[in-house]
Amino acid sequence: MSSKTEDIPPAHVVIFPFPAQGHMNCMLNLAHLFCLTDFHVTFIVSEFTHRLLLRNTSVPSTFAAYPGFQFRTIPDDHPRFGDKIADIVPAVTNIMVPLFKKIMADEDLLASPNRRPATCFVADGFFSFAADFAEEIGLPLVYFRTPSASYFWSYFHVDDLIQAQEIPIKVKGIPGMEGFLLRRRDLPAFFRTDDVNDHLLQSLAAATRQITRAQAVIFNTFEDLEGPILSIMREELPRIYTIGPIHEHQKSRLIEKKSEASIVAGNFWEEDRSCIDWLNSQAPRSVIYVSFGSITVVTREQLMEFWHGLVNSSQRFLWVMRLDSITGGDGIPAELMEGTKEKGYLVKWAPQEEVLNHPAVGGFLTHSGWNSTLESIVAGVPMICWPYFGDHTINSRKDEFLERANGMAKMAKKTVDRGGSSYTNLDALIGYIKSLTI
Ligand code: UDX
Repeated sequence: MSSKTEDIPPAHVVIFPFPAQGHMNCMLNLAHLFCLTDFHVTFIVSEFTHRLLLRNTSVPSTFAAYPGFQFRTIPDDHPRFGDKIADIVPAVTNIMVPLFKKIMADEDLLASPNRRPATCFVADGFFSFAADFAEEIGLPLVYFRTPSASYFWSYFHVDDLIQAQEIPIKVKGIPGMEGFLLRRRDLPAFFRTDDVNDHLLQSLAAATRQITRAQAVIFNTFEDLEGPILSIMREELPRIYTIGPIHEHQKSRLIEKKSEASIVAGNFWEEDRSCIDWLNSQAPRSVIYVSFGSITVVTREQLMEFWHGLVNSSQRFLWVMRLDSITGGDGIPAELMEGTKEKGYLVKWAPQEEVLNHPAVGGFLTHSGWNSTLESIVAGVPMICWPYFGDHTINSRKDEFLERANGMAKMAKKTVDRGGSSYTNLDALIGYIKSLTI
């Protein structure tokens, strides 16, 4: 005879990520962690994103192991990823969000014969619509803020800073962040405006303000990394779950469960694995890995400046150069291609985590995207930062902690192992979502 708890159908979590590479990876990792706990998961993506994800074999092969996982696609016609983020935002807001709301209403919160209606909505922290929507339909809302807690906290205080006339003039400090010796230039790049009504500044601040309306908030960070800010944040947002670094957390849970499922990586571009062969032939810790993530674009002048610096440094280098990352549309300059052969190796997209963990890699020249920062911390690879936009300036200040990169790597790994804070917080989050279901 089955027990009472066994009769209760599993929680059904609907996850709606912002469709940019840096967000998608974290959200797929979260989906996988939920699948490992036997939740039913519906993952919302546009048809376009879905096609990109399926090209990457790790996505179908990972989720094939979980009958409770499903993609729900939404028709769309938004621009190719790699285009300006500013083009994706209106497409998501004007096309995807209205269709998502309609589907949720028409399809009884995505219920099916095998799954109950959604019991919890996990929305990307960029989605301001989610708070009103969840409230209207009476669905518990959990926001997932994929960038750092420091970045979130800066936006949370935009209005105070404007009122104190410190934007656009100068910033004295944000409570909880004094220890970071933040300079004005470290604050999110969107703060660098002379217009306090700037659309991007205001819309990101508006999305941040919605967070207090959620039942809980997840951050891809860990207590040893952002503890002081997190404890101040908890005064205003009591239910915060820090479960990062989420890519490492996924691995540790798979190992603990002795699961044979593969690790999911939601790449929009095809990985060029030939760089691993090249790394295999290099001396330990001799290679600088250069990557500026999925959104950054550089001018031809910047590109050539970096290249001259690298070539003259006498270091070997592995450089990820997305074709759409160079402004002007002329592609990779011929002299760079030719001149790199001796010292370096170029790819359009690399298996980044594997590269960072390769013994030949000794340093990372990065744009300081949050995922890249966490991946580098876990791998114990020191970073040289070239912050580009958004949260990169604030993320790059984490470098101070990396004087002893190996020590930080140990902490990052320990936090996702049994007994670590991120491990315990994930269990608490799962328990909380289950409690919403009963
Ligand atoms: C953006 C923001 O810049 C970032 O700070 C924010 O938190 C999320 O959205 P992006 O600029 O692409 O993301 O940088 P990052 O956060 O570092 O994410 C890039 C991801 O792509 C990383 O997970 C990285 O491992 C992966 N990647 C990058 C590859 O797998 N291969 C590559 O060749 C380059």
